[in-house]
Amino acid sequence: MNHLFKTKQIASAELKNSELKRTLTATNLVALGIGAIVGAGIFVITGNAAAVHAGPAIVISFIISAFGCALAGLCYAEFSSMFPIAGSAYSYSYATMGEFIAWILGWDLILEYLFGAATVAVGWSGYVVSFLADFNITIPAIMTSAPIDYTENGWVLTGAVINFPAIFIVAILVTLLVLGVRESAKVNNIIVLIKVIVILLFIGFGISFIDTQNWIPFIPENTGKFDNFGWTGILSGAAIVFFAYIGFDAVSTAAQEAKNPQRDMPRGILISLVICTVLYIAVALVLTGIVKYTELNVPAPIALAINTVGGSLKWLSPLIKIGAIAGLSSVVMVLLFGQSRIFFAISNDGLLPPIFSKVHKKFKTPYITTIIIGIGCAVFAGLFPINILGKMVSIGTLLAFTIVCIGIIVLRKKRPDLPRPFRTPLVPLVPILGAVVCLAQMISLPFDTWMRLIIWMAIGLIIYFVYGWRHSKIRKSQK
Ligand code: ALA
Repeated sequence: MNHLFKTKQIASAELKNSELKRTLTATNLVALGIGAIVGAGIFVITGNAAAVHAGPAIVISFIISAFGCALAGLCYAEFSSMFPIAGSAYSYSYATMGEFIAWILGWDLILEYLFGAATVAVGWSGYVVSFLADFNITIPAIMTSAPIDYTENGWVLTGAVINFPAIFIVAILVTLLVLGVRESAKVNNIIVLIKVIVILLFIGFGISFIDTQNWIPFIPENTGKFDNFGWTGILSGAAIVFFAYIGFDAVSTAAQEAKNPQRDMPRGILISLVICTVLYIAVALVLTGIVKYTELNVPAPIALAINTVGGSLKWLSPLIKIGAIAGLSSVVMVLLFGQSRIFFAISNDGLLPPIFSKVHKKFKTPYITTIIIGIGCAVFAGLFPINILGKMVSIGTLLAFTIVCIGIIVLRKKRPDLPRPFRTPLVPLVPILGAVVCLAQMISLPFDTWMRLIIWMAIGLIIYFVYGWRHSKIRKSQK
């Protein structure tokens, strides 16, 4: 048991002799970040968060959430510049807090990446269904929605069979990822451009249709239920729209494929985060300014805003849908990419079977792990609705960010000597504040989401003690 808290030495050979190709530039990394960040959060989940939790004050929720992400992002940036290896926060914590915490974090990151990809695939399905309906093409609802849901009466069967479009998009993207990161990054760059343009069009044209009456009351009074409006509603809204920021850390999972990781990882993370925050605040203001918040609980809120304006902006509606469909695809892809690299790293350390780190001879991608992840993602996307998946992703990722923030303080104490191309400013203030803001958002999520997190982590512990602990390379090297 004495190896549980042993930290891993990140050998320089591991940094240099990666089997994966080093092809990504700084611009690719920012695009990878935006590709992962702007997705179902802004295109889908914002509407529900405004309608049910925060009202127009969803703008404040976005600011609170961005504040937490920026603080955690500064911590991520220090880690990723020091350990530019695949595996994101999993690898950072292995090097600082030991194998046991690393496994917990690695298992927790599955919620962020694999469940995140499933959540966005469900959002993608919603926009595709709405887009096809504009052309009078209808897929039966039982084939486009979740067969399982959670209501006040517990788990229920909805009568639907499967969310087929969600499974379809996962299958396509897994195929692209197996074929190689270079092609994937190029496709990603184009899609990122499309979705940013679509969002700018929405902000630019929508702004003149804002009715300031819709912003009154800006903070609707709390209804007596913790997460229903008022300041506690704003905090719950922050935890829910937090989903919209998830992904900037996906940049760090590509470290082993970056040309100049020391310089470009912090840039990639922080620049993509800043760009997205500005876009989100503007979108939230325009959205709640055009449509009364009470009407925003729909699968495609931005398209609803355009339709509300009607005539003069009608041309924008199909463009928004195409942009969303393209944008959501890129998010699913980056999240699946991130997950495969995390499993790759975990398997390299012996905590998952070697098959997870097998690299394809020709494509140089961890193809088997990518396919396994794709199957898992398709199952969740096919069976569960967006709200359940989204909250699960938020709580898991907030936990991961909290551990990363604490990790920075631990590392400064334990290894002050290590070179740090990027230093998190104002340590320990920034990491402590980051952890506090993330924890506060976690606390505002519902009890059933907490229960699911606890069960998920318990499954992870069982796997660790049944497999990982015995096969750990660190443990074997100590024998
Ligand atoms: N931030 C990503 C999204 O909103 C996960 O879709």
